[in-house]
Amino acid sequence: MSYEGLFNLKKKVALVVGAAGGLAEETCLGLAHFGAKLALADKSFEGLDRVSSMLGSKGIASWHHSVDVSDENSVETLFNSLRKKFGRLDIMINFAGLAAPLPLEKIDAGEFQRIVNVNLLGSFLLAKQSLSLMVPQGSGKIILLGSVQGQIGRPFSSHYSASKGGVQSMVRTLAVEMAKQNIQINSIAPVFTLTPMSESVIKDPEAKERILATIPMGRLGLPSDLVGAMVFLSSSASNFVTGQTLFVDGGCTIS
Ligand SMILES: NC(=O)c1ccc[n+]([C@@H]2O[C@H](COP(=O)([O-])OP(=O)(O)OC[C@H]3O[C@@H](n4cnc5c(N)ncnc54)[C@H](O)[C@@H]3O)[C@@H](O)[C@H]2O)c1
Repeated sequence: MSYEGLFNLKKKVALVVGAAGGLAEETCLGLAHFGAKLALADKSFEGLDRVSSMLGSKGIASWHHSVDVSDENSVETLFNSLRKKFGRLDIMINFAGLAAPLPLEKIDAGEFQRIVNVNLLGSFLLAKQSLSLMVPQGSGKIILLGSVQGQIGRPFSSHYSASKGGVQSMVRTLAVEMAKQNIQINSIAPVFTLTPMSESVIKDPEAKERILATIPMGRLGLPSDLVGAMVFLSSSASNFVTGQTLFVDGGCTIS
């Protein structure tokens, strides 16, 4: 066997959803480095403009489209445009997510549903639409964002933890359903990583200390920590890996 091109993503169309967020940018750069063509989606128009300008300034072309991942019609519209533009989809990574650290007495049904609709239902809708392109192609890679909080108990985010545990569980089911179609579906679960999403929690020095104490490697994650795992699960190097949650967490979940 030749190992040449194991991580090659040339000619692969990669849809990155939640592309305007703090974690996605480095992954976009990583995918482009290995040759992928980038399609970006997010709810934030300004964010999409910012990311595509940043990529453009580095000579990386990208296409973008707005989407609300919790709205089935909006997800369908995104995929209709993507189908028209590229005619195929090789990789779909969903970073779109919401976090809202709250004690349980402050989470009512509406708040619980809001988080689950974006993090879990959104992931389902994107995976479903992606598969409508990938199944006829006979290949594809789907990566959904989980979290260490989908695996271990941390206070003050029962709705968020439930949504991420749901994502991690859903990838196992989807992976089995798609196992014979040459489509691999996995989750990547980061630990607290320095982005706008985690900023509100980490700016409290006590909370930061408490979180650091749970990470054996003794530091918070960086968006660049995810890139190797993302490229691995996007490439042929992971063709026999499916239904897994890969924790990129400095040892948090094993300690
Ligand atoms: N940052 C962390 O510490 C951390 C840790 C574990 C898991 N995660 C997960 O990683 C993913 C990305 O996190 P991040 O830190 O980049 O967050 P972020 O808040 O910086 O980015 C999230 C992006 O999702 C977009 N978005 C929100 N709601 C949307 C919707 N309904 N439709 C479309 N787009 C929507 C936002 O506009 C934003 O660009 C999330 O799923 C998050 O739960 C993050």
